[in-house]
Amino acid sequence: MKSFITMSHTGFVLFIICLGVWSNGQEDIETAPMEKTEQEALYSAIQGFVGKEWNGSDLYPDPCGWTPIQGVSCDLYDGFWYVSALNIGPVHDNSLSCAPNVEFRPHLFELKHLKVLSFFNCLISPGRHPIPIPTAKWEKFAGNLESLEFRSNPGLTGQIPTSFGGLIKLQSLVLSENGLMGELPTNIGNLINLRRLVLAGNGFTGQIPNSFGGLNELLILDLSRNYLSGPLPSTLGGLISLLKLDLSNNLLDGTLPREIGNLKNLTLLDLRHNKLSGGLTQSLQEMGSLEELVLSNNPIGGDLMSLEWQNMQKLVVLDLSNTSLTGKIPESISELKRLRFLGLNNNNLSGDLLPKLAALPCISALYLNGNNLTGELKFSGWFYGKMGRRFGAWNNPNLCYPMELMSTSNVPYGVKPCQQEVTFYGLDSRTKLGNWNLNQNSHFMASLGFSSYGIDGFWWVFLVEMMMMVLVLNIFL
Ligand SMILES: *[C@@H]1O[C@H](CO)[C@@H](O)[C@H](O)[C@H]1NC(C)=O
Ligand SMILES: *[C@@H]1O[C@H](CO)[C@@H](O)[C@H](O)[C@H]1NC(C)=O
Ligand SMILES: *[C@@H]1O[C@H](CO)[C@@H](O)[C@H](O)[C@H]1NC(C)=O
Ligand SMILES: *[C@@H]1O[C@H](CO)[C@@H](O)[C@H](O)[C@H]1NC(C)=O
Ligand SMILES: *[C@@H]1O[C@H](CO)[C@@H](O)[C@H](O)[C@H]1NC(C)=O
Repeated sequence: MKSFITMSHTGFVLFIICLGVWSNGQEDIETAPMEKTEQEALYSAIQGFVGKEWNGSDLYPDPCGWTPIQGVSCDLYDGFWYVSALNIGPVHDNSLSCAPNVEFRPHLFELKHLKVLSFFNCLISPGRHPIPIPTAKWEKFAGNLESLEFRSNPGLTGQIPTSFGGLIKLQSLVLSENGLMGELPTNIGNLINLRRLVLAGNGFTGQIPNSFGGLNELLILDLSRNYLSGPLPSTLGGLISLLKLDLSNNLLDGTLPREIGNLKNLTLLDLRHNKLSGGLTQSLQEMGSLEELVLSNNPIGGDLMSLEWQNMQKLVVLDLSNTSLTGKIPESISELKRLRFLGLNNNNLSGDLLPKLAALPCISALYLNGNNLTGELKFSGWFYGKMGRRFGAWNNPNLCYPMELMSTSNVPYGVKPCQQEVTFYGLDSRTKLGNWNLNQNSHFMASLGFSSYGIDGFWWVFLVEMMMMVLVLNIFL
């Protein structure tokens, strides 16, 4: 019997109860050995969260044994059971759910072997019951606590207590989607065992502390959806283990620090919706593990040509939309064979489009709309048919597609056929018209007895318009 209790776990309870009845017959069911103080501390801590009407000793006389509490796990230390994890909030149907007026009782901090503490959807009424995280007593958890989570608690307000900086065993600190605010404590940078630091979706202000750069075991850093301002610290280059860096939707400004290129294992860099400027840092191309690079909606500026994109062979998502880019689209982008999403829309890109882009083997969304691209779109009708609206080239006033495609239904959405431009832009588009299939036209001209180069501009346009009419009529009649 004892050996079964030792491996007891939420899932084994029924099994153990049955076994107890079967093997012990009339005998009393044995309870797991647990210090009275530990047991009382557990009941009281939980009562603080779920309400006074909850009577733990009544409902769960053996919380680490045959009457386990949903969300509570225990471990054995020197022959006694201690609470090792406490998860408050409606995760499962029979989970502990919180009272409107949640209370952090001092008893919580008496659970001396607690490794995991989490609150999900527990403090939920910011209007009537805003509750700050208690500031005192966290040092009692310093020797054991490995994971601390407050997720989706809009009623949790105030600042991150500086005492969190003493929880040196922490490997995961998640404070996301709460009502927290104020500046990020510098001493979070002391938590050198952290692998995950998620402070997303709060009202944090001020700068990202330089000290965060010392967290060299960190795998995930997510500070998105706050009001953080100031520059990206160059110390972030010290986060050499990092896999995911999400600082999107803040008010960060300044340039992308060169040191960011040190993050050789980074797979996700998301800095969208900030105020970053100063061009694309050259060292971005050193991040050979990067799969998703999202810099959209920043006034970054500069030129796509400045990077050797072929070095970033793992890129799957490249979103540089609305980043004030100028210049041409470099050919090296068409060497990113894994690319599925390419967003270059709403920039100031110019020049002709490379037909090679359509040959990217995995591409499923390609947005080039809202630029100043020119000339003839030379992708195939099959490509437009496959992509539909996921190919965006509209709002490039000087871009057109070849007339031949008009007879098929596969034309790029929002782009004019080259011939129509003549009608819309008249004489101003003369030179463009000259580019448009000059070869074909000169044959046409010659066969009519004109030399295309000998005619003056106005007549040239007039004649071509006439011929277009003839062509269009031929198609439709
Ligand atoms: C819980 O129930 C027990 C037994 O019914 C009772 O002695 C105890 O006072 C109750 N505790 C609380 C906090 O209501
Ligand atoms: C980067 O990833 C490789 C391969 O997964 C791993 O061996 C290496 O230790 C990582 N580097 C750091 C600094 O974590
Ligand atoms: C483009 O980015 C700027 C910030 O650089 C932002 O203010 C603006 O709203 C963005 N435009 C769109 C259409 O998202
Ligand atoms: C593009 O450049 C023009 C002229 O230099 C400028 O007026 C316009 O604001 C720029 N547009 C964007 C989206 O940066
Ligand atoms: C678009 O490009 C043409 C030259 O190709 C240039 O004359 C024009 O000023 C550009 N428009 C904008 C808004 O930058």
